This record gives sequence, structure tokens and C-alpha cells, in this order.
Amino acid sequence: MSGKICLGIEGTAHTFGVGIVDDSANVLANEWSMYVPEEGGIHPREAANHHTEHAGQIIKQAMENANISRDDISLIAFSQGPGLGPCLRTAATAARALSLSLNVPIVGVNHCIAHLEIGRAVCDCPDPVLLYVSGGNTQVISYANGRYRVFGETLDIGLGNMLDKYGRERGMPFPAGPEIEKLAKHGSTLMELPYSVKGMDVSFSGLLTAALNQPGTLEDISYSIQETAFSMLVEVTERAMAHLGKAQVLLGGGVVRNKRLVEMVEIMCQERGAESFVPPPSLCSDNGAMIAWTGLVMNNAGISMSLEQTNINQKFRTDDVEITWI
Ligand code: ATP
Ligand code: FE2
Repeated sequence: MSGKICLGIEGTAHTFGVGIVDDSANVLANEWSMYVPEEGGIHPREAANHHTEHAGQIIKQAMENANISRDDISLIAFSQGPGLGPCLRTAATAARALSLSLNVPIVGVNHCIAHLEIGRAVCDCPDPVLLYVSGGNTQVISYANGRYRVFGETLDIGLGNMLDKYGRERGMPFPAGPEIEKLAKHGSTLMELPYSVKGMDVSFSGLLTAALNQPGTLEDISYSIQETAFSMLVEVTERAMAHLGKAQVLLGGGVVRNKRLVEMVEIMCQERGAESFVPPPSLCSDNGAMIAWTGLVMNNAGISMSLEQTNINQKFRTDDVEITWI
């Protein structure tokens, strides 16, 4: 185990996660609890209540799993945004309390950048185009001139939210993405659904409405949703790679647990002599380890924050952050 150890707290939306990482990107612990709404979508205050209830236990469990004592922790990191206000505030409060009681520095981390940084480290791909597909976010991101730039994104809802909304209307449990993947494996008829790519951007709400009105078996519709939505993502990712002259794709976000999406990206990469990388599933979904690691990278680049600078930012954009560590 090497020098610095960071404890990171993730709490942008449904997941309260605590990760402990050393400065060689070894994940010593990665614990989480996910809020599952009884019905409907995520209610921000209920999700925040869930985080408050579980914070103590998850922090304790992470410390036990990492087999470290309080004194071994040299840095606290937390998800500063983007996300749901009440959830962000809960995670930030826990992080500030830990930083004060352990008397160690605190760093607020951009959640989207954390998905990217953990992937760069564990997959060893220094300069990728990131295809980041989660519930709330769908973005194609890459580094250029001191920032992570968003080259393309969804103009309405994130792909994961689209899958979850479709599933909810069809009585599937939350999150519906994995259910739709299972159903899609048994689908065979490709139905025509709206394929919506505008320049480098995509949109999914038309696809959702059409899928909900589409007659046919759940298997065929799930298959058609996946093939259509994933093709859109592959198209914009490939265009970003061509434009930037980059030959690596990194996948991140909960939706990239989907094997078919990974396969489609791999095929595109093979065809252009490029490589694709997928972090292990526990590092793809929202998790504390990615926050801890990004906090460490930032702190090693000389970044630390006063408590006043740890205000949450619900609309924290990927390209708001000056990248001084590349
Ligand atoms: P963010 O705050 O970055 O938007 P998030 O809160 O949505 O993230 P993640 O854990 O990154 O959280 O992603 C969750 C999403 O991933 C859900 O919408 C879920 O349906 C989707 N998902 C999980 N597994 C699969 C799968 N196998 N196929 C498709 N979608 C999946
Ligand atoms: Fe996320």
C-alpha cells in the first residue's frame, strides 16, 4: 500500500457510496447502498433521507473492508455535482464532518469527470474519448486544451432514464436497464423507431414515446430500443474519434454494464483500428471509489478546498473544471 489514502463519498442521485483508494489506484473498499423508489421515479428528498440513514453504516463498512484505521486517511473527496440538491447536500455534509473530525483536506469532485478518471486509471488508457451513459447523463467527452470537453450529449433525457421510464410503464422493477437487456436477448424483429442524431447530439424522448406506442412483444421492442439507441451512441462516438484523431474509447456510467452496447462499440473500434475499454461493473455505476480516486488525482495536482469552496453545484458541468493534472 502506498502513501496517500483517500476516502470518497458519492451521493449525486440514488446511490450513497463510499470508496477508499490509494494513490496507485488500488481500490481498498467500495461500498454502497442504492435507494429504490417504491413507485415512480426518484424523489430527491426521499433519496437524501436514504443517504442520511445509511451514511454511517456505509462509511464504517468501507473502513472495515479496507482494513485501515482513521489515521490512515489523508484526504476526503465528495461528489460536488451535478445531481439532485438534497442528495448532494447530504453527501457534502458527511464529507465536511469527516474532514473536520479527521483533520484532513477536502476536495469536491465533478461526478462526470470521476467516471472518466477512474476508467483512465484502471483501464490504463491515457487519452480516450469517453462514452458516458448513465441514468441522468449521456455524453461524449474528451480532453482538449486544458478541459474535458463535451463533444456531444443528449438534448433531452439520459439513455438510462429512457430505459427506466419505458420499463416503469411496462411494470418492470427499477432500474429497468438490466431487465430490458435480458428481454432484448430474446428479441429478433427490428422495429423502426426514431433514430435521432443531430450533429454530435442525440435525443431519446421521441424514441421513448414511439416505443411506448409500438405494438409487439416486449422482447422485440426491447431489442429494437437497444439497437436503435446504441447505434446512435456509436455513431456520435465514432464521429468524435474521427474529429479528434483519437484511437481509444472508454466506456463509463451504469448503462455500459449492457453487453450489447459494449459489443457494438467494440465492433466500431475494430473496424477503425481503435481500442475500447470498459472498467469493471462496480466502477461503472455510481460509486465512491471513482470519487476518491479523482480527489486524489486533484489533490496531487495541488488542489484542496476551504470549507466555503465545498458548496454543491447541481448543474456542475464537465467543462467547468480546469484540468491541471494532465
Ligand atoms: P448519473 O448521476 O451519472 O446520471 P445514475 O445516477 O443514473 O448516474 P448509474 O449507476 O451510473 O447512476 O446508472 C444507472 C443507470 O444504468 C440506470 O438507468 C439503469 O437502468 C442503467 N443500467 C444498469 N445496468 C444496465 C444494463 N445492463 N443495461 C442497460 N442499462 C443499465
Ligand atoms: Fe453517474
